[in-house]
Amino acid sequence: MDYKLLAKSALEAMERSYSPYSNFRVGAALLTKDGKIYQGANIESAAYSPTNCAERTALFKAVSEGEREFAAIAVAGALRGGEPQYCYPCGVCRQMLNEFFTDDVAVVVVKSESDYKVHRFGELLPFGFGAGNLV
Ligand code: THU
Repeated sequence: MDYKLLAKSALEAMERSYSPYSNFRVGAALLTKDGKIYQGANIESAAYSPTNCAERTALFKAVSEGEREFAAIAVAGALRGGEPQYCYPCGVCRQMLNEFFTDDVAVVVVKSESDYKVHRFGELLPFGFGAGNLV
């Protein structure tokens, strides 16, 4: 899998973050199983709690376009004016990703196009609560 391309896409999405309150910019690039990429950025609210993370922006864009099967997500986050850091999805995003991700989906945390770490989603949310609990 071309994680370099996905990393680049997350860094590009980060540039479009709307984050005037935290000044922490996050970008995500979500890869579908058939090779399409949906980008997302965090979008903040003056009321704070309605804020949407980059990962959920990308997921909601993709799912609302009919996508259901995913291969990977890359995430890049940086304080305004700073260098990207390894930025892991927050707990709320992990729970929402769990709705559509299997344990083997790759989660790529990105510092640069050539510096990133790859995890399995199952590492980030072991013992998750999901649809399987409700049948
Ligand atoms: N944020 C994300 O977009 N994704 C994460 O994985 C961590 C946090 C956003 C939410 C808020 O706009 C800012 O980063 C600071 O918490």
